[in-house]
Formats: sequence, structure tokens, C-alpha cells
Amino acid sequence: MTIIAHPSGAFRGIYSIKLIVAPSKGNLSARAAKIVADKINNTENPHIGFATGSTPIDTYNMLVSMHRSGQVNGESLSGLTGWNLDEYVLDRSVAAKHPEFKAQTYRHFMGEHLYNALKIPEDRRRIPDWSTSDPAFECASYEATLRERPTKTAVQILGLGPTELKDGLHIGGHIGFNESGTSFSSLTHVVELSQRTRIANSRLFMTDEEKAFLGLEIDEDPYEKFEGNLFTTNQKEFFIGNILWRVPKFAMTMGIGTILDTSDSLLIMAYGEGKSQAVYNALLRPDERIPASALFHHPDSTVIVDQEAAALLRFKEPGEYEIKPTPLRI
Ligand code: F6R
Repeated sequence: MTIIAHPSGAFRGIYSIKLIVAPSKGNLSARAAKIVADKINNTENPHIGFATGSTPIDTYNMLVSMHRSGQVNGESLSGLTGWNLDEYVLDRSVAAKHPEFKAQTYRHFMGEHLYNALKIPEDRRRIPDWSTSDPAFECASYEATLRERPTKTAVQILGLGPTELKDGLHIGGHIGFNESGTSFSSLTHVVELSQRTRIANSRLFMTDEEKAFLGLEIDEDPYEKFEGNLFTTNQKEFFIGNILWRVPKFAMTMGIGTILDTSDSLLIMAYGEGKSQAVYNALLRPDERIPASALFHHPDSTVIVDQEAAALLRFKEPGEYEIKPTPLRI
């Protein structure tokens, strides 16, 4: 371990990351499910950290099947507390007018994909409250609750955001809602969602009739039609006046410091070519422009990818590798 002075003034070690290249997406999800099931089975009253998004869904399905076939210890499961990385702030007036959109909250996602099947009681489903009227206070309370626990999160699952090209550099690779440039010492905080993200998310806050009126496919991101002036004036006014206000403007997320400090082990999952640049950048060296590269500051972190997501790495063949940070040569 090397000790470095962190720009924030905090001292954090630099460690290797374990990389697992899986032969397929199915194998990746199964290996992640096994890692989580082992942690649950071997820990008394386990605290497990969960992510939402498309990446872990198969893993959650597999955990449910493993539970049904007796591979997850029922006693451990009955003491499990789940901690989620992030949650939207959904305007209460939107929720009152359109209760159906509550289905887009991450709390609902976790119930649907995991907690209901595992019968995790409500008070052990920890996630910032989407209906809070004081998101900053909610974040501070969540942070305090995470840190006051007698035991840390046994394993925190993380998805990986894609990169984007800015000034000739591929930056990005978010974890939670921590975008490029977020301090590695950040705590649970409120994030203002970009207009780009809100337009993409608006598809989740529209009825099918509204999509039809706007000429959108069921899961189409309206960005191109909106920005490319492909909406008629009526459609554009309708989109801005009736739809966009519903889409959450803010979210709450564990900070990168929170993730590093409150978990015994971290597990990033990523599949598909679309994540290959983010995986490559995350495994270079710790760099605050690449949030996922913060894993170099944790003594027990694993990145598990399929071969498509490993496409830009030196290690593309299925197997396990130890990744040390590449020194910066200038
Ligand atoms: C979700 C989260 C996000 C996602 C990431 C990848 O709780 O924190 O960081 O993990 O955006 O999303 P998917 O898996 O949909 O590609």
C-alpha cells in the first residue's frame, strides 16, 4: 500500500483492483450473485449495498432463484439490511397528481426486482426518501445513519456510467449520481440533474397516450426530437409545459467518500461495449474526472465485466487479474 496526500487533505491509500473478465453477460451476473450470496451467508445480520439501473437486474433475479432453491441462508436473509446508493427527489405535487410515476422511484425498483421476493421488511430497505421536503437534511441523516452502524456494508454493488467526450478527453464513468469531477471525499449529497438527463428520463414520466401524441416510441429518448426541432410547435409546448416539470430535477446520492468509507468491499459490474471506455479509464489510475477510478482507494474492490466491456483492456480473456494503477508519464 502507498500513502498519498489526497487533494482534499484526507489521506487515502492506493491499492490494486481485482478484475474479473467473465466469458458472457450471464456468467458475469451469476458470479456477482455468488459473491453477494456468499457475503450474505457468511455474515451475521449482513448489510448489503445495492444499485439500481439495468446492470444488476439479472443478478437480483439470480439471487431470488438462489433464495428459492435454498442457496441463500434464510436466517442471514432475515437479518439483512439493504442500503441503496441513490434516489430521485420526486416533487410531491407530481406524486399526488400522478401516483403511477412513484413506480419510477428507486425504492419501488428495489421492491420489484429484489426485496419483495426476498421478503425484506420495509424498515430494512434503506434508501433516501424520495418524498422528502428537505433533501439536504435527508442526505445528512442518511450519511449519519450509514456511519453510525456498528458494522460496515459487507459488499456494495455499483453500476458504471458511460464516458462522454469533452475537450478531447473521455471523462465520466459515474458511480451513484457522482459525475465526473466529484470529490473522492464527498459525502451523501443532493445532485442537480442536467437538462440532458432530465430529457432522457422524461420517457419514464409519460403515459403511452402522451408518447403517441409526441410521436415517440415506447422507450425512445426524446432528446433528438426535442433538440433537433423535430417536434411541431404544439408538441414542443406540450413537452415543456406538461411533461418536463414532472421529471425529477434533483437526486440524492451517497458521495464517493461515503462509498469508500462505509463498505468492507466494493463490486463494480459492467457489461457491453458501451461501457468499455469507462472500464478502461476506471482501471488506469485514481482520477477525480473518472468517479469509478476511486476504487483504487479501497483495499478490497472488484470490477467484474464481460468481454465486450473489457474490449479496450490488455486483459480481454476470461480470467482474474490484479490491476495496479498505471503511473502517469508526463
Ligand atoms: C444506480 C446508479 C447508477 C447506475 C449507472 C449505470 O443506482 O447509481 O450509477 O449504476 O448509471 O446504469 P445502468 O446499469 O442502467 O447502465
